Amino acid sequence: MQTRDHDLSFDAWDEVHSPRAERCDFDAVVDRAISRRGILGGLAAFGAVALLGSTALAPAARAASRLGFEQVAANSLDTITVPTGYSWHPVATWGDPLWSAAAEFDPASRGTGVSQEAAFGDNNDGMALFVDGDSLVLAVNNEYTNRPIIFGNRDSKLPETADDVRKGKAAHGVSVMEIAETDGRWHVVKDSAYNRRITADTPMEITGPARGHALLKTAADPTGTTSLGTWNNCGNGRTPWGTYLACEENFNGYFSSSDADYKPSAELSRYGVKTEDWGYAWAMTDERFDISKHPQEPNRAGYVVEIDPLDPHSTPKKRTALGRFKHENAELVVNGDGTVAVYMGDDERGEFLYKFVSSGKYAVGADNSDLLEDGDLFVARFNDDGTGEWLALTPETTGMRDKGEISVHTRIAASAVGATTMDRPEWVAANPKTSDVYCCLTNNRNRGVKPNAGGDQTPVNGPNPREKNNYGQIVRWAPVDDDHAGPNFTWDLLVVAGNPTVHSDAYAGSSNVTAENMFNSPDGLAFDSTGLAWIQTDGNYSNEGDFAGMGNNQMLIGDPATGEIRRFLVGPKECEITGITWAPDRRTVFVGVQHPGEKGGSAFPGGGQSVPRSCVIAVKREDGGLIG
Ligand code: FEO
Ligand code: CA
Ligand code: CA
Ligand code: CA
Repeated sequence: MQTRDHDLSFDAWDEVHSPRAERCDFDAVVDRAISRRGILGGLAAFGAVALLGSTALAPAARAASRLGFEQVAANSLDTITVPTGYSWHPVATWGDPLWSAAAEFDPASRGTGVSQEAAFGDNNDGMALFVDGDSLVLAVNNEYTNRPIIFGNRDSKLPETADDVRKGKAAHGVSVMEIAETDGRWHVVKDSAYNRRITADTPMEITGPARGHALLKTAADPTGTTSLGTWNNCGNGRTPWGTYLACEENFNGYFSSSDADYKPSAELSRYGVKTEDWGYAWAMTDERFDISKHPQEPNRAGYVVEIDPLDPHSTPKKRTALGRFKHENAELVVNGDGTVAVYMGDDERGEFLYKFVSSGKYAVGADNSDLLEDGDLFVARFNDDGTGEWLALTPETTGMRDKGEISVHTRIAASAVGATTMDRPEWVAANPKTSDVYCCLTNNRNRGVKPNAGGDQTPVNGPNPREKNNYGQIVRWAPVDDDHAGPNFTWDLLVVAGNPTVHSDAYAGSSNVTAENMFNSPDGLAFDSTGLAWIQTDGNYSNEGDFAGMGNNQMLIGDPATGEIRRFLVGPKECEITGITWAPDRRTVFVGVQHPGEKGGSAFPGGGQSVPRSCVIAVKREDGGLIG
């Protein structure tokens, strides 16, 4: 196997290896960007939320901050920094065994197939904490694995043996584990009956419109109703009926072709499936990842997976009704009429923002377990005047044969109805105090430069107001009449990230961005019970040039009513901060630290010469007070 581009992110790798055709009218793009800067200037008081009267505050009311902590300064240290009066400690670290009979993490080998199958997975991302009587059960996505780290025992820094591939597959998926607090420190409860590893080989059931569809029938399952495994689980969701939603994002990077001349279909290409994988080599031992032999296998990935975290024997369900794309997370809201709306981003440059609305209604105490099996799928169109609508994806609007095809080729369906191409929609979060919903648009260097993978143009537009957007922004929308099932909304921008110490134009960011709180690439996003927004970043940590003064990736807290944002936490070197959930008493917040040292420059959390390891940390107030 050839060595390749280990330092590149998924998106960057994709970009290098399959550059899109440049087909934009540059003059028009530049004209629009200039006029858009004017609009940005007009929205200088972003905190004033000009378009959302429900949350706008008079200037006098903005004086008193709800952010009761001293802002942390940006830094490039190889540790966690939290405000004065707060402390942190690791709870679960990649390779920690979930059972006492399993081996402890071995830094020399970085584990084996057997040890990894019994241990916390790698690169933790979205997570949620569930309560069952006196037990607390943490479900955590293990998004992917850094090949140079997990295979750091190999000269090639890549999987070389069948057991290496087994280890890699087991490092993916979801870890479910009981946790407890002893003497102020949280830890995994080894041997708990709740503990479970879901990996790239765990049997899954396919549900919804694509169940049994011709597009899902493969040699491994001619019925198209089951599949094996979940991988690249990025952000998450949770339901009010107590299940966990794991969202499959960059599922494409695991497929390859034994026939180098094989030409992937247009449908596979829209999802980035190519004849080479991203260095995982799963096809070495598992033929279903060879697209020349099994071209429909990729159709069985790219879904939201619903998991019962309290039943380790339950079969996870792929919810095809929620569409197939590079799912970031899934934010579920119970609408006034009892239907559930699930908001979801497709994280790729120029892809879309979606909404699912269930056919059935949620009722406390009823059997809600199949609410995500059937419903309607929509995609967002944002108008420059601050309004927008949800466009239905139906056979009539898309020209597709049936709902099953729409559920599998969702990106193509969305292109057909003219949805708005977005700056990489990452996490969506709903404010529990209002009906407003927010989405991090992390960045998009292709904005105004080249179309998306489906050929849709990406001109500068309302919620994506800057060409070559390297900083990102957070868009917010309010459903008309507070109706999450309805077709109309109004929108504005909570924050436009930027660097006011480097730029004085739109790239300086909105007025609530200062030299003290600046950041780039908002990604993780969640509201606490008080209605404050916790913003996590996955961006450029060079601390140079356009990013000078921003330091490592970080977590900030924003008050959506005023627009005020303060930095709460700075992560270690080369990490991303992603995933957040709270203890039921709100005295601990659990935060994910993903891929520290992804380029070889960190020893977090062990320090010294130790192998860098992703982990979940607990953050508490030293006085035991509430935190969110
Ligand atoms: Fe896995 Fe879009 O982040
Ligand atoms: Ca993310
Ligand atoms: Ca990201
Ligand atoms: Ca990530």
